[in-house]
Amino acid sequence: MNGVAERIRERSAVVGVVGQGYVGLPLGLVFAEAGFRVVGFDVDPRKVAAIGRGESYIRHIGPERIGAAVAGGRYVATGDYDRLVECDAILICVPTPLGRHREPDNSYIHSTAREIAARLRPGQLVVLESTTYPGTTDEEVRPLLEASGLRCGVDFLLAFSPEREDPGRRDYSTRSIPKVVGGVDPESTRVAAALYGAALERIVPVSSARVAEACKLLENVFRSVNIALVNELKMIFDRMGIDVWEVIEAAKTKPFGFMAFQPGPGLGGHCIPLDPFYLAWKAAEHGEWARFIELAGEVNTRMPRWVVSKVADALNAEGKPLHGSRVLVLGLAYKANVDDDRESPSYELIELLREAGAVVDYCDPYFPVARKTRKHDLGLRSVPADPEVFGRYDALVLATAHDLFKDGSLYRGARVVVDTRNVVAAALGPEAGDRPRIWKA
Ligand SMILES: NC(=O)c1ccc[n+]([C@@H]2O[C@H](COP(=O)([O-])OP(=O)(O)OC[C@H]3O[C@@H](n4cnc5c(N)ncnc54)[C@H](O)[C@@H]3O)[C@@H](O)[C@H]2O)c1
Repeated sequence: MNGVAERIRERSAVVGVVGQGYVGLPLGLVFAEAGFRVVGFDVDPRKVAAIGRGESYIRHIGPERIGAAVAGGRYVATGDYDRLVECDAILICVPTPLGRHREPDNSYIHSTAREIAARLRPGQLVVLESTTYPGTTDEEVRPLLEASGLRCGVDFLLAFSPEREDPGRRDYSTRSIPKVVGGVDPESTRVAAALYGAALERIVPVSSARVAEACKLLENVFRSVNIALVNELKMIFDRMGIDVWEVIEAAKTKPFGFMAFQPGPGLGGHCIPLDPFYLAWKAAEHGEWARFIELAGEVNTRMPRWVVSKVADALNAEGKPLHGSRVLVLGLAYKANVDDDRESPSYELIELLREAGAVVDYCDPYFPVARKTRKHDLGLRSVPADPEVFGRYDALVLATAHDLFKDGSLYRGARVVVDTRNVVAAALGPEAGDRPRIWKA
């Protein structure tokens, strides 16, 4: 297995990245920029073609980076798995969604592992990056790869290394975010750490793939539970006439032992709403209950309903029923200033408002047309971000704190704003008077 380590040192190793999405594309680029030749695999021919043309389909990844890597002959995208044989290292970055009953769906990992096994050759290093429960690399990927007849630790190496991408973040990049790496044996850890170390700034080796898998879940469970905590406190303080955001700002001044989390209309994004349930599911296999995870999930998934009840209260105070009112939801993205709407609570908000009889539109320039997703088909287009347009609605519901929604002049003609992110009052300033009426939710 010295061959692959040697080629990593010389940067002559070829890195294959299976899945060219939010995780795989930036990861592949970082290796290309470090001087490696990268082969990006994806089943979506549109992504393969876009990369070939040097175009980006992810807003925060500049096309110039892709163009430079492709033109320099260091990046090629393909749908042809036979090119796996060219690769010294194969990094798996395929989706790990939840099924309809919140059960883990590792089918993408399994099908990828089978494709790799069919072409596996001695000396290759395989690293799983997709978020999953502890044991997946050892108990599921390893036997699938060994079905090739090759033996793990003897003929090929296997590790897990979780991704820590935060779309839209400027202070950290794929290169500078520390990378945890755990192999199924010490040699796998050593070689995988050497590979990542050749392209990224800081590697954190751990004793096993299981620890690396669990580490990722701890990070996401931590966020989910703390967000649930502030969401629950938001509802309690609201009853008491206390503004939770003001409380959090005050608590943040404590120089130790406190970390601020912000409440919102519900969880969004590819990770936090989903990954904790991977652990809850696996815990059951070991006869354990992941109570914090379940409780946080319950509180967080309740949030859109709570926001809708606030919209009803706000309209009621104006003498209007929610039924038949025109409501505009501001923001379809799950977080500010990104074109990522995966698991965004805005979809559910819109559907719940519709169920209550409201006539609903949305405004989000990042999504001129609402995508049809596995769960939702809104059939809507974004209305323009324009004060006159905003003035035509009975209520606005701010769901995403995009910078463009922090322009107070947008709300000139608005009557009622239900603000789930605490940005509108500051945008309007103290001169706004009592119009629009702002309801924090
Ligand atoms: N997006 C994030 O911020 C983030 C952060 C940390 C971890 N993760 C984890 O990383 C993994 C990938 O997430 P993502 O956000 O990149 O997903 P994504 O949907 O953006 O990308 C996955 C890509 O894999 C492709 N694909 C699916 N099946 C394939 C197959 N059999 N062969 C080749 N390509 C295939 C899809 O076409 C898609 O382009 C998930 O496990 C996710 O939980 C994501």
